[in-house]
Amino acid sequence: MTLENEYAIITSNLTKKFGDFTAVDNLNLKVKTGEIYGLLGPNGAGKTTIIKMLSSISNPSSGEATVLGEKIHYGIIASKIGYMPQETGLYLGLTVDQNLKFYGRIFDLKKEEMEKREDELLKFVDLVDWKHEMVENLSGGMKHRVSLACTLIHEPELLFLDEPTVGVDPELRVSFWEYFHQLREKGVTILITTHYMDEARHCDRIGFMQRGRIIAEDSPQEILKRSGKDSLEDAFLEFSKQDEG
Ligand SMILES: Nc1ncnc2c1ncn2[C@@H]1O[C@H](COP(=O)(O)OP(=O)(O)OP(=O)(O)O)[C@@H](O)[C@H]1O
Ligand SMILES: [Mg+2]
Repeated sequence: MTLENEYAIITSNLTKKFGDFTAVDNLNLKVKTGEIYGLLGPNGAGKTTIIKMLSSISNPSSGEATVLGEKIHYGIIASKIGYMPQETGLYLGLTVDQNLKFYGRIFDLKKEEMEKREDELLKFVDLVDWKHEMVENLSGGMKHRVSLACTLIHEPELLFLDEPTVGVDPELRVSFWEYFHQLREKGVTILITTHYMDEARHCDRIGFMQRGRIIAEDSPQEILKRSGKDSLEDAFLEFSKQDEG
């Protein structure tokens, strides 16, 4: 196995500056193929900025990254990648169906394939009855579900999910995670951000972020063991304290 197959994401001193402010600071991250990796950290830690660079929406200030074996280039969105932005990428004045078809067309899905994927995904996000409703008429959590379905329409190999479960009710969050695990079984790699620590334990590995850096990284079990704490919240506070001390 080559390094590129073993790892879906490899970054080397990846850095993003906004003026004098460093949002992502010399990040060296490796995410294995078929792994669910969770980025956790407070508002402004740099999670979204990392995802935007890795999905080639934002240009790094320095350093580099290899994603699915290819060096990232600003502006190139690889068809093997699915990116679910934190802020919605939906067209509010279009229906659920029209939004899904819009994303399907970007990736050249054939009509039959499109219908099949759409049926599957609407069932998965539990919005079959809302297919022809305008997105602007949906609740916040429902919009999030449509957004996730749009991200998955072309069966990407690598998913960047930026807080995909915000505003989603608990029952559906459970089914989202079941689905993420099914995707992992198929070899899909997922880089996900969340503020829900109870979700973090579903990840294979998590990285705690603070001020643009990863201050601790391991499986949730190991993180707990290393911190000597019972909860991931307390573990985060512990690593954060150590980092500052
Ligand atoms: N376009 C921009 N111009 C200036 N500063 C920015 C820009 N985008 C992000 N930042 C800053 O970079 C830092 C990291 O932001 P980022 O959105 O990556 O945080 P985050 O970890 O995703 O936070 P959250 O949990 O709130 O989503 C923040 O301080 C933010 O203000
Ligand atoms: Mg963010």
